[in-house]
Amino acid sequence: MTNYVKIFDTTLRDGEQSPGATMTSAEKLEVAHNLARLGVDVIEAGFPAASLDDLEAVRRIALEVGNPPAGSPDAKVPVIAGLARANKSDIDKAWEAVQGAKHPRIHTFLATSPIHMKHKLKMDPEEVIQRVSEMVAYAKSLCADVEFSPEDAGRSDPEFLYVVLGEAIKSGATTLNIPDTVGYTTPDEFYALIKGIIENTPGMHEGITVSVHCHDDLGMATANTLAGIRAGARQAEVTINGIGERAGNTSLEEVVMALKTRHPIFGLETGIETQQLSRISKLVSNYTGMTVQPNKAIVGANAFAHEAGIHQDGMLKHQGTYEIMRPEDVGVNQTKLVLGKHSGRHALRTRLAEMGHSLDEVELDKAFSRFKDLADRKKVITDLDLEAVIADEFYKPRDVFLLNGLQVSCGTMGMPTATVRLRGPDGVIHTQAAIGTGPVDATYKAIDQIVNVPCTLLEFNIHAITEGIDALGEVTVRIQSEGGSTTMDAQREVEYIRVYGGHGADTDIIVASAKAYINALNKLIIAQTEGTEKMKNDFGVMLG
Ligand code: KIV
Ligand code: ZN
Repeated sequence: MTNYVKIFDTTLRDGEQSPGATMTSAEKLEVAHNLARLGVDVIEAGFPAASLDDLEAVRRIALEVGNPPAGSPDAKVPVIAGLARANKSDIDKAWEAVQGAKHPRIHTFLATSPIHMKHKLKMDPEEVIQRVSEMVAYAKSLCADVEFSPEDAGRSDPEFLYVVLGEAIKSGATTLNIPDTVGYTTPDEFYALIKGIIENTPGMHEGITVSVHCHDDLGMATANTLAGIRAGARQAEVTINGIGERAGNTSLEEVVMALKTRHPIFGLETGIETQQLSRISKLVSNYTGMTVQPNKAIVGANAFAHEAGIHQDGMLKHQGTYEIMRPEDVGVNQTKLVLGKHSGRHALRTRLAEMGHSLDEVELDKAFSRFKDLADRKKVITDLDLEAVIADEFYKPRDVFLLNGLQVSCGTMGMPTATVRLRGPDGVIHTQAAIGTGPVDATYKAIDQIVNVPCTLLEFNIHAITEGIDALGEVTVRIQSEGGSTTMDAQREVEYIRVYGGHGADTDIIVASAKAYINALNKLIIAQTEGTEKMKNDFGVMLG
């Protein structure tokens, strides 16, 4: 058996499904480029049947990330997968979306647990076997690389799974993914499940990759994934920061660093360039508006911080006393340099290219003007600052409303007041003033009066990107649309309300706050006007 574990990243599909993680197409494309640079083997770029928007986003990723750059035909590119329910229409859409990639994959699934078959699918086990066999064969007639997942495998009867998976192999699937859809199993159980599948599935052979896909409802996703790998799985389905449905999916960085740090136990390799983990974690957090908890393993702000005196003393004597990984191995403290006021366009272009951003001339002009503006206010500009400026300038939703001016007065002497000027979708400039409990509240009230889209601010986070009084302030917000749609699931009527994240960066924290809020509002408006909100809600009911 190979000692290489393929990393299948589903941040853009299962991850993006989680409340508030909605990303724009430009953001998805940027995340996909970064996943490719990180070295993932497979990118699940989306669920093309969810909406035209999703199909288009997957198609662009397949074309632009799933093919080698011009002039380097032999460069390694990831497999691009599209998810499809086990029906012809979904499979056709997935194929339409991924076929432009050098290595396309159709990933189709059907539930196999008694509760899903009876209540959700209303199919009996024989019908499920039949459907799997037909739909895997149909997918195979379009695409050489087909993955099949028995949804809710963690609560399925293993004997039944062997039969279903055997049929999937017969029909042409080459990857069998075993999802613990509701995060129910324990590591011992999951180990036994994977081992049983490898040993008992008819037709299992070396050419079949067994894959694991765990959810974190009981906080055991990483442990279960590692148990599955120990049992012989050689693909792990994961997301950056562990974002995903409900409590999330297995986090990529945890699995990869566990395999690397405990190499003597596992004896397994991945293709991940771990020094990029911290950067991509921030990127995904910025785009989704989902902040990473400070004590999150590997990528949390405190993951390498030592506060207790005894720990600090130990660290000064030997780093290994309290650190099992070197921070630089995951890209922490790697802030290289460092540009300043006198750096020119060429230096900026070179540094951005080293960081993986290749901008065209127009984009470079914009980035350079932002850079000069920042350099006037901040002495030293680090990679972290540049990432924030790039995210702020380029990877935001289409501008429906755009901040055109902001003036705030606040302090102990009077009522905090904000005057806001926005350019609207019609190009008209709108100006409003409002009083609030503080400068951010006043600013948001003035924005609300102009935009006039009912929503609730769920979360507001602000932090300094680097040390120093002149640091860029970075704000992430999450807002909830008011009046979400209602849909019936099997037992009850559920109200599905979408949450949208926004991100903004500026040396002026009120400007950063305004930008973040406007970004989130723009996402909400785009989703509502283009009808993607409802479709995403339907999708949310169906998948784990
Ligand atoms: O959790 C799950 O079962 C899934 C499948 C669609 C693979 O995400
Ligand atoms: Zn899942």
